[in-house]
Amino acid sequence: MKILVVGNGGREHALVWKIRQSPLVTEIYCASGNAGVAGIADCVPIDATNIVEVADFAETIHADLTVVGPELPMILGIADEFQRRGLTIFCPTRAAGEIEGSKAFAREFMERHKVPAPRFTVCGSAAEGYEFARKAPFGFPFVAKADGLAAGKGTLIVENADQARAVVDEMMTERRFGSAGAKVVMEELLQGEEVSFMVLSDGHRVVPLASAQDHKRALDGDLGPNTGGMGAVSPAMSLSLEAHKRIVQEIVLPTVAGMAAEGRPFRGVLYAGLMMTESGPKVLEFNARFGDPEAQVVLPRMRSDIVPLLLAVARGDLDDVKVEWAKEPSVCVVLASKGYPEAVETDKRIRGLDEIASHPDVIVFQAATARRDDRIVTVGGRVLGVTALGANLEAAIQRVYLAIEKVSFEGMHYRRDIGQKALARWHATRA
Ligand code: AMP
Ligand code: GLY
Repeated sequence: MKILVVGNGGREHALVWKIRQSPLVTEIYCASGNAGVAGIADCVPIDATNIVEVADFAETIHADLTVVGPELPMILGIADEFQRRGLTIFCPTRAAGEIEGSKAFAREFMERHKVPAPRFTVCGSAAEGYEFARKAPFGFPFVAKADGLAAGKGTLIVENADQARAVVDEMMTERRFGSAGAKVVMEELLQGEEVSFMVLSDGHRVVPLASAQDHKRALDGDLGPNTGGMGAVSPAMSLSLEAHKRIVQEIVLPTVAGMAAEGRPFRGVLYAGLMMTESGPKVLEFNARFGDPEAQVVLPRMRSDIVPLLLAVARGDLDDVKVEWAKEPSVCVVLASKGYPEAVETDKRIRGLDEIASHPDVIVFQAATARRDDRIVTVGGRVLGVTALGANLEAAIQRVYLAIEKVSFEGMHYRRDIGQKALARWHATRA
């Protein structure tokens, strides 16, 4: 079987790594991959957003399955393009992907289908935005979100009326995020612990994946700006069996049924970013793809062959499949470039990749890397994700940080406390 993976980050490295373990696979390609992916797949220099060229390539190589990592090709309609050509793809259609692509659509959808979520108002014009800022019906602080994709930067916490007006100026009048600011969703700020809950869905049935917890802030102690994710653990230690059941019953199943009922059957990974509040789990956001770095902790724990699962989702026949998971927890720490999540310094030589690769039970997923002659250099913000499994969370954390000492590049920074909150939680439940 020939498989094409689309994307070039750490998540795609993890996908290629996992897919390659399948005995069903004979050839694996990646558009466009990175230096890490190039070691285990044939990388082709086609940008993920060039959906026609990606489809042409899939046709040329007679790909049996194409698996899409990032959201942008989905929003551009790559699945629709593939379906028009009769090609098999693991990616939601553009219509289904709106659950991630439009925050306004997602919130109104949740309301229609009674999926637990914060109170919200959609402002469709700057005038409505200023009106909301004046009244602040949810009090301060509240959350303002540009409607469309804004590279993870379109969500702001608003502390007071001055800031509220400034946010409307910036998003709706000045259009800092372009057309994503045509509408802005204002919502209640939820309190609690965040959990990433991903399921595979074929449009009707669902198979939950192992839970995970991301670390979104740039600095230790959950301080600093929001990022794409600085590290993750799996499972989410705060998630009881009871909470797991509630999430499936109250959030996942109504969402999948609602999407089907609205003529947008959801085939792919539905990723619910949840806040575990005192009154139960509530949806912060839906994504229509694997999380990054959540994929880097969840896929290494998957014992089953992933290829039949991806194929079943793509074909819409996800029957009673059982997915086996390693009992051992996993931790991933992201090593980022100087400046991330703002403007970053790049083109720095990465040292120690061979040394770190020799650590047993440690996997290095490369993200923003490229090969230049005999060197591997940084080409973006999140450079490497180092994952380790351990007999318990403490062991996994120790193993991952010990391994990280082997690798370096100029300006490298990372959080030293990935998994600590989960560990404290785990100790508390045992006390
Ligand atoms: P989003 O842009 O929707 O992915 O949100 C990014 C991050 O902002 C989330 O991971 C949360 O940490 C935070 N966030 C978003 N919405 C809310 C909310 N309603 N209440 C509290 N935190 C939120
Ligand atoms: N780690 C968060 C995301 O993938 O959106």
